[in-house]
Amino acid sequence: MSGDSRGSWSGQVGFVLAAAGSAIGLGNIWRFPFATSQNGGGAFVLVYIAAVVLVGMPILISEVLIGRSTARNPVGAFRALAPGSAWPVVGMLGVVAGFVILSYYAVVAGWAFHYLFAAAAGRLTAPTTEGAQRVFDSLTGDLGRQVFWEAVFMATTIAVVARGIEAGIERASKILMPLLFAFLLVLLGYALTSPGAGEGLAFFLTPRFGDLGWAGVLAALGQAFFSLSLGMGAMITYGSYLEQEHSVVKAAGLIVAMDTAIAILAGLVIFPLVFTYGLDPSAAGPGLVFVILPEAFIRMPASSMLATLFFALLLFAALTSAISLLEVVVAYLVDQFGWTRARASWSAGIVIFALGVPSAVSSGFLGWADWIASEVMLPIGGFLIAVFVAWVLPLSTVRSQYEGASGVRGGFRAWRFCVRFVAPVAVAVILLQKVGLF
Ligand code: PHE
Repeated sequence: MSGDSRGSWSGQVGFVLAAAGSAIGLGNIWRFPFATSQNGGGAFVLVYIAAVVLVGMPILISEVLIGRSTARNPVGAFRALAPGSAWPVVGMLGVVAGFVILSYYAVVAGWAFHYLFAAAAGRLTAPTTEGAQRVFDSLTGDLGRQVFWEAVFMATTIAVVARGIEAGIERASKILMPLLFAFLLVLLGYALTSPGAGEGLAFFLTPRFGDLGWAGVLAALGQAFFSLSLGMGAMITYGSYLEQEHSVVKAAGLIVAMDTAIAILAGLVIFPLVFTYGLDPSAAGPGLVFVILPEAFIRMPASSMLATLFFALLLFAALTSAISLLEVVVAYLVDQFGWTRARASWSAGIVIFALGVPSAVSSGFLGWADWIASEVMLPIGGFLIAVFVAWVLPLSTVRSQYEGASGVRGGFRAWRFCVRFVAPVAVAVILLQKVGLF
C-alpha cells in the first residue's frame, strides 16, 4: 500500500491543524475544568503540566514516528515494524479505545448540540424560573433527546470521515480554531471582571495537594493522554499521512502548546464564573461547563447570539476530535480488511452510536466509560508505545524518522531520555500506585 493511495496532508500546516483539531476538544473545555475541580485545583494543574511536558509530548512524538515510518493504521504499523510479534495487540487496544471513547464522547457532544439549538432559539438565555442546573438535569434525564442529538452528532462525524479527510476539514479548522481561541479570550475578559474572579482564580490555581493524592495524579496523567489524543493510535494514524520532509518535534511542540493554552484558558474562564454564580465546583462534575456558561451568558448583552456562537465553536472542536477517533477505527478496517471508506465509516459509526446509548441512559455509566478509557486504556497504551519506540525500534530508524528530511533534530537526546525512562517509569509507577501495589 503506497503512501500516495492513502492520501496525505497538504503540508506541515495541514498536519498541525488536523492534529491540533484532534487534541483540542471536549477534553479541554468540558473535561479539564471538572477534573481540576475534583482533584485539588492548582495541584492538579501542576501535575497536569508536568505530565504534558514529560510524558505527553514525548509520546506524541513517538506516535507520529510510528505512523510516519509505516504509513499504516495502528495495527498495520506495529505489524510492519515488528512482524511476527505480539506488538500489533497495542494497535488493537487503540482501536477498541476508539470505540469506547467515541461512544460517550458523542453523548456529551450531543449535549452541546442541544444547547446550541436551545441558544439559537433563544430558549437558553430567556429568563427562566428553573436554574441552569435544572435545565442540565432535565436534559440528562431525557433519554430520547440525548439519543437524538447523539445520533445527529455521530451522523455528522461519519459523513465527514466517509468522504475522507479532505481539504474541507483542514480549511474549516484554519478558520474555526482561531475563532474558538478568540472567543475564549472575550469570555476571559468577562470572567476576570466578574465578582467571583479572585475566588475562582484562587480555587483554580492554588495547589491543594491534600485533595490530590495518587488518584488525582493518575487523573492528571489520564487527562494529559486524553487531551493530547494519545495512547490509542490517533496520532499514529494522523502521522501516517505526514510526509517525510517535515520536522516532527516542531509540529509536536505547536500541538502541545495550543492544546495546553486552550485548557488553561478554559479554566481561567470557568472558575471565576463558578464562584460568581455560587456553584459548588467540586460537586458539579460533568455538568460544570454546561451549567455555568449558560448562567453567565444570560447576563450578557446579545446573550443568545454569544451562547449560540460559543456552543457552535465547542461543537466544532468536538467534531474535529471525534473525526480522529473514528478515523483510527476506519483506517484499520480500510487498511487491514480492504473495506471501502464509506462502508467502514458507517458500520463502525453505527456500532459506536449503539454503544453510546448506555452513557445517555446513565451518567454513572458515562463516568465509568470515561474513567476506563482515560485512566486505564490510554495510559497503558501510551506506556507500551513509549516502550516500543524506546526499546524495540532500532535507534537508526528512530533517529532518521525523528528528523525526517527536515534536518531538524533539536531535542533528540532529551526526547529519547524521556521516552526511554521518564515516561514509562512515571506511567507505571502512577498506575501501580493507584492499584495499590506499592
Ligand atoms: N483529545 C480529544 C479532546 O480533548 C479527545 C480524544 C482522545 C481524541 C483520544 C482522540 C483520541 O477532546
